[in-house]
Formats: sequence, structure tokens, C-alpha cells
Amino acid sequence: MSGQRLPAAPPITVDGVRAGYGRIEVLHGIDLQVPAGSIFALLGPNGAGKSTLLKVIGGHVRATAGEVHLGDLPVGGRSVEHLARLGLCTVPEGRGVFPNLTVRENLRIWTYSARIPLGEVEERTYTAFHRLADRRQQAAGTLSGGEQQMLALSRALVSDPSVLLVDELSMGLAPLVVAELYEMVGELAARGMTVLLVEQFVTTALAVATRAAIMTNGRITAEGSPSEMAEAALSAYLAS
Ligand SMILES: Nc1ncnc2c1ncn2[C@@H]1O[C@H](COP(=O)(O)OP(=O)(O)OP(=O)(O)O)[C@@H](O)[C@H]1O
Ligand SMILES: [Mg+2]
Repeated sequence: MSGQRLPAAPPITVDGVRAGYGRIEVLHGIDLQVPAGSIFALLGPNGAGKSTLLKVIGGHVRATAGEVHLGDLPVGGRSVEHLARLGLCTVPEGRGVFPNLTVRENLRIWTYSARIPLGEVEERTYTAFHRLADRRQQAAGTLSGGEQQMLALSRALVSDPSVLLVDELSMGLAPLVVAELYEMVGELAARGMTVLLVEQFVTTALAVATRAAIMTNGRITAEGSPSEMAEAALSAYLAS
């Protein structure tokens, strides 16, 4: 299925995944089911391996054992670019924008993989995030942190992915901005995509999530409904 797109909102299945960097193993056998069309929050203390798991799912880091499936499609061995063409979009940790390019130039880059005209991309983005409209000629690196995350999220707005992976959207941002960004994640999910998000702000993540899990020391230690995970998260953070 090299040229085919993923079906809308496929489930993500992680089966016995081990992965790490060099000789250091970070993920010690992860099993996780992200239901089709869910907004799944992955919570856990610093260094637990949350970003590493997103990197394995997104094709940035190879699993040394186990496998990830997006619907029926095995991720293993596919390039990041290939997975993007199939309909997987990652908003990485940190700011997922090109700092030296303007807002519009960043959007133009998104159009390459989405194959839609820049005008339409700009319209979609500025409709969702009015603040970016006035800043279209500004270098992305000089935007505020929240504006940069809006621009990073617009990538998903433009490419209409089937699977969206979001890593720490809230990092360093004021609660109001975080709420605005997560409102957009909710709207994106409503279009029909499976969303897996990593977040430190437990309350924020659980407010938007339909399902959640907790990772500690490279293992999934709890999984359940957002209300079940609220308490489990607290003890995981306290124990870390
Ligand atoms: N590129 C890398 N090279 C070597 N080790 C790495 C690399 N990236 C992460 N690690 C290590 O892997 C472990 C897990 O890191 P990871 O970034 O997945 O954690 P995390 O749960 O996302 O943490 P945080 O909440 O702080 O973002 C850490 O011990 C980290 O030092
Ligand atoms: Mg991380």
C-alpha cells in the first residue's frame, strides 16, 4: 500500500515495543491500544519515554523489538516522509516550525506534502488562528511561544491527517493559550482523526482526552478513562 492513504482515524496498536538510543533501552516493552478516532493522552513524569514512543510511532526512531500498526499498516522500516504521505502528522516537542522563515513561508512548506494551494492553506490557518494573519510576514522564530505552537498545529489543519501525534503543546505557555490550542486539537479530532497527545499538564490533557495512559520508566503503568487516570497520574508524578 505504498501510495495509498491511511483510512480516516485508524487505531494505533503498539505491540511489545522496545526502543532506545544506542545501547540504552528507554522503552521496555510497550503495549498500547489507541482506539480509532480517539483523543488519547499519554501522561507521565519527565524522562519516562513518552516522546520516544511518539518518535517510534512517527518513524523517527526504530523499535528494536515489537511493532506499531496504524490500522493494518506496520510502521516499522518506513521513512518519516513516507508516513507523512500516508496521512501521519507529527507536531514535535519544542517548536515545530522553521524559525528563520516567515509564517507564510512555513505554510508554503506544509503545502508541498499536502498538495493544496498556498491561498487555501493560508485561509484555513488564519481562520483558525486570527493572530497569525497579521503576522504572516514575520519570522516564525520571533512569534510568541503560543503563536509558534499555533503555526505548528496549522500543519495538521492543512494536511488533514488520519493520525495526529502531538508532543507537549503546552510547554512554557500560559493556561489561556494552552486552552485555545487544545480547543483546536478537539476540533481537529472532530474532523475524523486519531490523536495521540503527550502532555505534562494532566488536567488540560484529560479535559480533552477520551482515553489516557500513564508511562513511567519506559512502561505503561495504567490505562483507562480520563477520570480514572486523573488519580493514577497524581500518584505516578508523586512517586517519580
Ligand atoms: N536523542 C537521544 N539520545 C540519547 N538519549 C535520549 C535521546 N532522547 C531521549 N533520550 C533519553 O531517553 C529517556 C526518555 O526520554 P523521552 O524524551 O522519551 O522522555 P519524556 O517522557 O518525553 O520526557 P519529558 O516529559 O521530559 O519530555 C531519557 O532518559 C532521555 O535522556
Ligand atoms: Mg518528552
